[in-house]
This record gives sequence, structure tokens and C-alpha cells, in this order.
Amino acid sequence: MAETRSHSFAYPGSAKKRQGSDDIDGDDMIVSKKSLLSVPGAAWDDPAAALASARHEFGEHGGVNMSIEASATFTVMEPETMRRMFAGELGPDRDFFIYSRHFNPTVLSLGRQMAALEGTEAAYCTASGMSAISSVLMQICSSGGHVVASRTLYGGTHALLTHFLPRACNITTSFVDIRDHAAVRDAIVAGKTKVLYFESMSNPTLTVADVPELSRIAHDKGAMVVVDNTFAPMVLSPARLGADVVVHSISKFISGGADIIAGAICGPAKLVNSMMDLHQGALMLLGPTMNPKVAFELSERIPHLGLRMKEHCARALAFATRLKKMGIRVIYPGLEDHPQHDLLKSMANKDYGFGGIMCVDMETEDRANRLMHLLQNYAQFGFMAVSLGYYETLMSCSGSSTSSEMNEEEQALAGISPGLVRMSVGYIGTLEQKWGQLEKALSRLQEPGLFGKN
Ligand SMILES: Cc1ncc(COP(=O)(O)O)c(C=O)c1O
Repeated sequence: MAETRSHSFAYPGSAKKRQGSDDIDGDDMIVSKKSLLSVPGAAWDDPAAALASARHEFGEHGGVNMSIEASATFTVMEPETMRRMFAGELGPDRDFFIYSRHFNPTVLSLGRQMAALEGTEAAYCTASGMSAISSVLMQICSSGGHVVASRTLYGGTHALLTHFLPRACNITTSFVDIRDHAAVRDAIVAGKTKVLYFESMSNPTLTVADVPELSRIAHDKGAMVVVDNTFAPMVLSPARLGADVVVHSISKFISGGADIIAGAICGPAKLVNSMMDLHQGALMLLGPTMNPKVAFELSERIPHLGLRMKEHCARALAFATRLKKMGIRVIYPGLEDHPQHDLLKSMANKDYGFGGIMCVDMETEDRANRLMHLLQNYAQFGFMAVSLGYYETLMSCSGSSTSSEMNEEEQALAGISPGLVRMSVGYIGTLEQKWGQLEKALSRLQEPGLFGKN
């Protein structure tokens, strides 16, 4: 197909880049190389500021939004160029693309936003949060590698580390309480342990990790630190606190629409590039590719992530404070009595708040179910659904849903009470309207005989 084209063929929309030849040494290439994956060198002190100073991609015709590069494959003007691309001599840093399972310009552009958001050198986006997590762990840990991980993790990640990785890849994990720094240090075996893995704010217990101290401990023993920041985008920036890699389930707050499954790996350019290696790269070879149309959609939502997070956090703090005053067992890192409240304050970016998730401990699954039933079907406060980061409040009983991959003992060790209701606090409606609904459900819950015993 490409062979039938004359050398005078100009690519629509790429005239600036290549006219009639693969102008490999042109000045425009130097400009694009500088801004490939990295965040511009300015001092980083706030994720919104970093996002605003990241490269803005315009559309083909000068549109304020970037164009979607919907092509699976990319043509070249000269056969030699293809050989050089496959040999790794020409790549996306100079605007040469091979195939969209490898780099795609639109997905790369979203990656630049994610790198700016997390303050990392590079980032690349994937089809799901789980594919980001599994790919990065497989990339860093070869067969026989060892991971030290927090006991309190999203159930899917826990299952990946407990069952899948040992069986399929001979990668084993020791689980520890990451609040116990001596235990973390003891569990890391120098030379064997490749990764210390934890969630910045854990799912569902909302334990906050001491990222600087844990990073120091891991680095002293030669392990890399991989942090899942799904619960706290904007609020926490683990890479700025010492972590090497930040992974995300973009499906949650970053998307905000509960309509897309997506993930990201944010870290050093060397790691991201190695994951794209044609011979050894986990992303290239396992292929959890993000569709460029999805990448475009997500890139339009990132600019208002900060505003959304502030409102999620403000509502969660207001509800948690009022629930606590009513004597309800509420877990929220923004409350002064939360064990890591001061730690979170010391690490958090200014003015975003303390996270958009709060938990109510109803002690038994039966009481948790009654509360959720009333909140959804009687008071219209929110939806019984897993996931988080939606504009409506979403609630689930973690022990029987998103943490059900963990057995009873593992749940107990992770501090997951059977009656724990995780609430991703939405920002729809007014705060007082939603509080009224929450109060209404709670007062109904007190009525004797409503659902048998109280
Ligand atoms: C903390 C955390 N990490 C990762 C994941 C997995 O992400 P995804 O569903 O996008 O694969 C989830 C999903 O619930 C999660 O809560």
C-alpha cells in the first residue's frame, strides 16, 4: 500500500512535520523531542499548576482541542524509515509512530497530562487500572522476583499478588502492615525484593501511607516503590514524596463519569520506554492498549479534575464531621481522630482536601445492607454500586464486594470490618439537600422493627 504512493504525497495534517520525505533532522523534530513525555522543567509544587503548564495539544485545523489520531497503523515516506523505527532509532520523541499498540499520539498526549498530574518524567495510559498494575509489576519483577506489599489493597490487586503472579510468573509477595515500618524493612530482602507496593490511601480502610519514609526504607534496600494513587489524585503526589512509580485506575476520580475503564503508569521515562520495548516490554507484548478515542475523552476531563476533587473532598469532610457528631463510627482521614490525619496533612497538596471517600462502620453486614438499602431506595442519597469518583455517591459493603477476593482472615488483618460501608461521596445537588437525605435514612434506621431486629 505505502509502496504505491509517490514521494510527493503529503500527509493530511502532518504537513508541518513531513512533506514528501521523512525529514528526520528538521528543527521541528528537536522541539517535539524536548516535549515528548516529560513535564517542562519548572519547579513542581501543585498538580493543577503542573497541568496548566504542560504542553497543550491543538487540533489539526487549529482547534482548541487536540485531534484524535484514530489510526492503528502509520505510514512512512521511505522504506528505510520503517527499518529505523523498528531498530529503535526513530520513535515518538521525533514524531515517528509504528502501530497503536506501541505508542499512539493521542494516548501519548494523555500520558503527558498524567505525567504532569503526578509530577513524573513520563506516563503512559492503559486499558484498565489492573493492566497498569500487572504490567508494571511484571516489567520490574522478573520470574523469581519478590514483592513486599501492603496488607490493605484493592481486592483485585490482592488477588493478583496472592494467586496470579505466583502461579503465572513465579513472582511472590510478602504482605505487611505498612504502618509498621520495622516490619516493612524486615520483609524487604536486598537483591530479591524488587518492589515495595502500597496504596497512598488504602481501599477500603483509608489508611494513609507514609510515602517519604517507606520510600527511604525501600530505596535503602534497593527496591523500587510503586504506589497506587487511585483514591487520592491531586490530593497526594506520591512521586513528589519519594515513590518511583505511581499507578492509577483512571476509571475512578480521574474519569469521573463511571463510563470508562482505564489506567496509567507514571514514572521515569526509562521505565515507560522499557515497557514499550519490542522484545521485552510488558505493555507492547501483553497489549493492554488504550483506545485513542477514549484517551481523547479522558484528556478533556483532566482539566476539571482539581475542581471535582475539591468538591468531593469538601462534601466528604462535611458529612464525616456531622456523622461523627451523631455518634456514628465514621472513618475519614480528614477527621482529627483519624490515626494518619497529621501525616496526611503533612504530605497533602494544599487546598484539595483529604479525599473523597469515607467509610461508615455498621459492624455487621446485615446492618450495612440495611443502611445502604435505605440510603438508595428510601432517601435517594446515592447508588449501591462499586467503583468511585462519580458525581453521584456510590456505596458498597467492601467485605462482600470489592474486597471479597480476600478471605476472612485476610480481611481481618487488613482491618476490614464486615459492616464497613465505603462511600464515594458525590457532588451532585446541594450539600444540605444530600445531608438531609443521609439524615432521613439514618433516622429510619433507628425505627424499631423496620427490618426485624435493629
Ligand atoms: C485502588 C484501586 N486500584 C486499582 C483498581 C483497578 O482498576 P480498574 O478497575 O480500572 O482495572 C481499583 C478498582 O476498583 C482500585 O480501587
